[in-house]
Order: sequence, then C-alpha cells, then structure tokens
Amino acid sequence: MKILSIETSCDETAVSIIEAEGKLESPSFKVLGNALFSQIDIHKEYGGVFPMLAKREHAKNLIPLLKKALTEANMFISCDISHDNEKWDEIKKILQREDNLAEDFVEFAKKCEKPSIDVISVTYGPGLAPALWVGISFAEALGKLWNVPVVPVNHMEGHIFSVLVNREDEISNFQFPISNKNTDAIQFPAIALLISGGHTELVKMEAWGKYEILGATLDDAVGEAFDKTARMLGLPYPGGPEISRLAEFARTQNLPHTAKLPRPMIHSDNLNFSFSGLKTSVLYYLRDNFVDGNPPSQEQKADIAREFEDSVVDVLASKTRKALDDTSAKTLIIAGGVIANKKIRSVFTEFEKEYSELTVKIPTNPMATDNAIMIACATYSNITLHPEILKNSNKIIATGNLKL
Ligand code: KG4
Ligand code: ZN
Repeated sequence: MKILSIETSCDETAVSIIEAEGKLESPSFKVLGNALFSQIDIHKEYGGVFPMLAKREHAKNLIPLLKKALTEANMFISCDISHDNEKWDEIKKILQREDNLAEDFVEFAKKCEKPSIDVISVTYGPGLAPALWVGISFAEALGKLWNVPVVPVNHMEGHIFSVLVNREDEISNFQFPISNKNTDAIQFPAIALLISGGHTELVKMEAWGKYEILGATLDDAVGEAFDKTARMLGLPYPGGPEISRLAEFARTQNLPHTAKLPRPMIHSDNLNFSFSGLKTSVLYYLRDNFVDGNPPSQEQKADIAREFEDSVVDVLASKTRKALDDTSAKTLIIAGGVIANKKIRSVFTEFEKEYSELTVKIPTNPMATDNAIMIACATYSNITLHPEILKNSNKIIATGNLKL
C-alpha cells in the first residue's frame, strides 16, 4: 500500500510517501520520498511558535515539499492536464481559507499526473489548530484531485510509530528508497513514554491501536519546561538542545554542583507529572542568587542546566519504572522530540540492563522530531485494523487537544 502523508501540527511542514506491507506484528515500511521544512529559524526570532505564522509558512511550503517527495519517489510525472470546472470549483472551495495555497495548488495540479498513491493521510491533532487546518485542507484537496481516500491520524500515535523506522542518516543526504531494518516485533503489553513540546504521557498499549493513558502532565509538558527554562537563562528557542548542550558541558568539565532543584511529584503514588513548579524553582533560584547586574556566568548557567536536566531525568525514570512494574510491560517505547536529549536517551537505554525481559525502543534523531514518515506508519496501522476508514468521507476536523 502506498501512503502519502502530511504533517503540519506545529512548526515542521512535512510530506512523505511510504510503501507499507505485511502484518502489523512485523510490518515493512519503505520510505519512497520524504520532504521536510523546519520553521524553527523563523520562530526563533519570537522565542516560540506563533500559530498564524506557522500556518502561513505551511501554506507556502506544502506544494514545493509535495513536489520534492513525489520526485524522490519517481512519481512526479509532468504533463498538461485539464480537469473539469466542477472539480476546480470544489478544490478552490476546500482551499478557500488557506492564503495563496489555492493558486499554487491549481498550477501544480495542471502539471502533475496522478501518482500511484493508494491513500492520503494527515495529522488532525493534537497541535495548533490553524496549522492543522492547512494540512487537512491540503490533504482533502489532493484527495479530491486524485480521487484517493483521505484519513486522519493522531500526531501522538505517529510518535509511537517513529520507533519502527530506522533512519541514522541526516535528512539532507537521505537516499531513496530506504527500508526499515527494524523488523523485530513489538511485544505487548508495551509502555510508551511520550515526551514532546506539548505532551508528557505514559501510555499502556495492549496491542497496536489500543492505548490507555496511565498518567500525564498536570501542567507544562517536559519540552515546554526545557524551552521556558532556557528562555530564563537567556538561551534561544528551542531551548531543549541548548540546555542539553550546557548540561553536557557541566558534566564533562565536572563543574561544582551548586544549584539544587526539586524532583516534582517523584513520590506521588500516581503516574502524573508536573513540570511547571520546576521551571518556577529555576526562576526563584535565579532571583535569589543573581541580582540585576550580576547575571549567571556561562558555568553557572551550565550548572543550572545540568541540575534541571537531572531533575527531569529522575522524574521521568522514576514514573516510568512505576508504570513498568505496574504492568509487567515487555517493551518500552520512548518517543517525541525530547528523546533527542542525550542524557534521557542514555538513562532509558540502560533500562534494558535493569529489566532483563524488557526491550527499549527509541527512535533515531531524525525520526524523533516531528516528521511525516511516522504519520504514514500510523496510517498503515489504522487502515490494517479498521479498513472501513477508507470509506469514510466525513469532513476531517482539526482537533487541537486530541487525545490518544
Ligand atoms: O515532538 P516535537 O518535535 O514537537 C512537538 O510535537 O512538540 O518536540 C519539540 C520539543 C521542544 O520543546 C524542544 O525543545 C524539545 O522537543 N527538544 C529537546 C531536545 N531536542 C528537542 N529537549 C531536550 N533535549 C533535547 N536535546
Ligand atoms: Zn510532535
């Protein structure tokens, strides 16, 4: 089955084409084409992601990314096509709220032959509603143009599937097609720890498609806490990689441990998290120790970054141990942008030594951050489990706070 997927939930615009086959127990995914544009440099200036700016950028980039992905997949076959007026009208109506996208779309549609795609999928939540809408309208317009079914996918389910595709290479020198070598089956029950800019969740999985949220953050997500703490330390957006770099510096230089921060909710007897207090503790620490005109030095910032990261790691590891003990899980999946963090990766990799029966699945870095390949893989699971979704022609609705 050839799947074209679209991801626009936050500040990455991505289009992928994969070929998926096999049973869900050990599926095979071949990436035929993949195009991604990160808006980070655009949002950096503002210190965070602005939804309307993200939406505009997605609208601008979707057609060029689609062309790139189709070209990589050898599916961009140019020709002169005339569609009937009725179809144009319907497509323009679907795209009416997406600035400038309709014009680019029509121009593209006249020049590209219908590719051999079986289904189109699109992230419909969770995420920033205006950003999600562009992706949905685009997917629906393509579905109409090519007469191909369009199915909605949950972004967090996509992150879970990110562990099934191996990609060690950087996006720029990605060779096509690549196949996943990661064919060993996921053993259930599994626990998924999802850590991203918008989410911190512990999910129990009895099987593919069967999710139960065991615990979640009561306030800030872990990536959000990294980003806010980084901002307090005067570091650029996104703060996660910056804090991580400084923390590593503190460790390799063996800087003195001066900063002390709490481990929020580490002893609570549930699986929820809270990171907003941790961020506030950093604020108080800075206020109490560094008066105006006496900002922390680079080494003092590194000490704070290390302590912050250690606190996050201690809490994530402790709650995950509890979830594993409660469920006797056989697999631990950790996914979401924050798993790019080296310290968190290394601590969870060690879990395989601590739990002799456990397999730990962590995505490679290019698969950890938002991308459309993971969305396509989740699509395959959804279609395999519920083939009837291919017949559903209901309008897809962006759902910013969608749950698993
Ligand atoms: O999954 P993702 O790409 O987007 C969302 O769906 O939110 O995650 C982005 C988050 C940001 O908060 C970013 O600061 C964080 O992942 N992040 C990191 C690291 N790299 C990215 N956090 C800690 N350490 C990192 N190395
Ligand atoms: Zn994400």
